Amino acid sequence: MGEPNLAVEVGGITMKNPVMTASGTFGYGEEFASLVDLNKLGGIIVKGLSLKPSAGNPPPRTVETYGGMLNAIGLENIGIEAFVQEKLPFLKTLETPVVLNIYGHEIKAYAELAERTQDLEGIAGIEVNISCPNVRAGGSAFGTDPKMAFEVVKAVREKTRLPLIAKLSPNVTDISVIAHSVEKAGADAVSLINTITGMAVDVPTRKPKLANITGGLSGPAIKPIALRMVWEAAQAVRIPVIGIGGIMNAMDAMEFFIVGARAVQVGTANFVNPRVTVEIVEGLRRYLVENNISNINEIIGSLRTGRQ
Ligand SMILES: Cc1cc2nc3c(=O)[nH]c(=O)nc-3n(C[C@H](O)[C@H](O)[C@H](O)COP(=O)(O)O)c2cc1C
Repeated sequence: MGEPNLAVEVGGITMKNPVMTASGTFGYGEEFASLVDLNKLGGIIVKGLSLKPSAGNPPPRTVETYGGMLNAIGLENIGIEAFVQEKLPFLKTLETPVVLNIYGHEIKAYAELAERTQDLEGIAGIEVNISCPNVRAGGSAFGTDPKMAFEVVKAVREKTRLPLIAKLSPNVTDISVIAHSVEKAGADAVSLINTITGMAVDVPTRKPKLANITGGLSGPAIKPIALRMVWEAAQAVRIPVIGIGGIMNAMDAMEFFIVGARAVQVGTANFVNPRVTVEIVEGLRRYLVENNISNINEIIGSLRTGRQ
């Protein structure tokens, strides 16, 4: 058999393979350029950007947990203008599609970010992080209320023609309701999951291990939850689903494809092994060759539940 086909198309973004970097775990790409051949990646999603620079939360902001980590970075970033001036020129030189990740504390901020970025050269798409607290609505996250999730995605949709990925929060009872809402609002794809809210306590001092008290749990510990939610979302919507959560190797990624993900994002694993994304691409290629599968798309949504 010849080379297997790893290419996928996700909501208007064509990628040579289905492996992307998850926002916030791969900087603005350039930081990893000496470690990874960035042109071997399916897609790069940069650190979440806001209109103005943000210093994030005070330290300590990360703590290791069994099979994962908690973070309360608080979306520290350089702001959209500095990104365009300082980071985009390098990213533009890559063959790999670059996707922005945006967030705001009110709908207007999301809309402005979408407008500011829609004509930028070198941007393949925009991922909308709706896990952020809405200051206007008393701090509850946009992504935990189907109506607010709809409104924020609709506001972004009205301002941009770029492929729009809505990134969903797992801190909800029924992910299919939210997925359905953002599809109705005009999202071209959904990505999930963002981190799961958690906490850790230092017993001798009885203090929370994070200055923010709570943080977002990521890494292998969340993979079973992520898989279940991706599976549920894939059944709820027609738009493509991107799977995220605890992916450490090619077989973890395969599980997400089988439950219906069209692509995957790799986050925490980058901190353990900065080359993990390209190793996952190679592992997928090897699996397809060894199993005589000519196209990755044959795997997507192939879960055998015995219910069909
Ligand atoms: C340190 C850190 C920073 C993150 N920053 C962002 C961010 O800026 N925007 C966003 O949408 N998600 C952010 N995430 C969430 C990840 O993109 C991903 O959804 C989550 O970590 C689950 O995947 P993983 O288990 O592979 O890490 C961050 C995660 C970590 C660990």
